Amino acid sequence: MEIVKRMSKIKHKIAVMSGKGGVGKSTIAVNLAVALSKKGYRTGILDIDIHGPNVPRMLKIGKKDLIISAEGIVPVKVGNLKVISVQLLLPEENSPIIWRGPRKTAAIRQFLVDVSWGDLDILVIDCPPGTGDEHLTILQSIPFFDGIIMVTTPHEVSLDDVEKSINMAKHLKIKVLGIVENMSGFVCPECKTEIPIFGSGGGNKIASKTNIPLLGNVPIDIASKELEDVLLIENGESETSKRLLKIVNKIENIVLKREE
Ligand SMILES: Nc1ncnc2c1ncn2[C@@H]1O[C@H](COP(=O)(O)OP(=O)(O)OP(=O)(O)O)[C@@H](O)[C@H]1O
Ligand SMILES: [Mg+2]
Repeated sequence: MEIVKRMSKIKHKIAVMSGKGGVGKSTIAVNLAVALSKKGYRTGILDIDIHGPNVPRMLKIGKKDLIISAEGIVPVKVGNLKVISVQLLLPEENSPIIWRGPRKTAAIRQFLVDVSWGDLDILVIDCPPGTGDEHLTILQSIPFFDGIIMVTTPHEVSLDDVEKSINMAKHLKIKVLGIVENMSGFVCPECKTEIPIFGSGGGNKIASKTNIPLLGNVPIDIASKELEDVLLIENGESETSKRLLKIVNKIENIVLKREE
């Protein structure tokens, strides 16, 4: 079966990328997917990070949840959200993956063919950091991409990297729908003052330099460090949760409500 045929019943596809590791791609992708599924959209999340997939940990799923049917790999349901991670297919959880070059590319393409998503309104794809082989494979193999959400932090180094990713998207003629600045400071829950721990204005700077809209700034939620289990967007009282929800609404408007 072809990837195009396999993904033909998915209306919209977006990828969450960044130039740099650890800036919060998986966090943004998972929170976005959970929020969209709770809004009633038939949503899937595909975690394609061969080297460090952490989506299963965030959504508390494991290999035991995986079903392989005659149709192919069946995504795991978390509430109404359909989830698939390459992690679930690895021989051992946490096993280091040593695939390289063409082998890795072939494995990703096979993986895209094997998953039986069924009908979806939107598929959110959580990418590994950087601009490597995986990205090229994913962006070139998946048909009819709506676009990319680029995640950055306010640091200058992160901005240099995100620019590289934006250039790669341009080269592949895939639209960057918007930039999300994550870890943009900390909002004091008492006095609401925002403290720019990692500097400030970086997201804005890259947005104006590249002419791509800044979808929002997501502050650090310290509660998440204590309550490792809580999805940021579900910590209703926090500024982080409110800002994430605003970003979700913007993405919903750009991608899902566009044709209505
Ligand atoms: N706004 C935030 N507030 C608090 N913690 C956050 C926030 N965003 C991300 N984190 C935490 O930072 C760490 C890195 O985030 P995450 O795994 O989402 O980054 P990533 O870009 O997907 O990393 P990788 O490049 O390894 O895939 C995680 O422990 C996550 O819980
Ligand atoms: Mg990640």
